Amino acid sequence: MDLDVVTLGNEVLREKAKAVETFDQALEETVRQMFVLMREKKGVGLAAPQIGISRRFFVTEAVDDKPRVFINPEIIETSQETVNGEEGCLSLPGVWANVVRPYSVKVQAQDTSGKIFHLNAEGWLARIILHENDHLNGLLFVDRLPQNIKNKVISKYEKMSQNK
Ligand code: NI
Repeated sequence: MDLDVVTLGNEVLREKAKAVETFDQALEETVRQMFVLMREKKGVGLAAPQIGISRRFFVTEAVDDKPRVFINPEIIETSQETVNGEEGCLSLPGVWANVVRPYSVKVQAQDTSGKIFHLNAEGWLARIILHENDHLNGLLFVDRLPQNIKNKVISKYEKMSQNK
């Protein structure tokens, strides 16, 4: 399997991904390859829809954090406190914008063997988890920007990708 990251305009990024039901070797292998691809592209998170798989899982590897896999994640709780932080996305390479998100998150998910775990995350890891979880619901970080800024970021991205 030769994975690559799909970019803005690909329908799969707009779909609501389906639950993972089979925890098999193929899933483990896909996850392994997602880490390879994410590191190659210097990303800190990658969701299955970004490689064309409309299923509910993603991987993260924040700076100073270990590699993590979230399968069928559920956001249990988010903090009232929000924070502004700069985000980019491997599906919109070359553009960044400040996005307001909750400062912390409580998440439940399964690992590659199907075992359920809970995690409390804050700061950058919380931001990455929320960004990747959005991908499973067909949302991109630009959708969380005020409309005028969203338009600017998207037109900048489109200009850049045309000039490639
Ligand atoms: Ni993204």
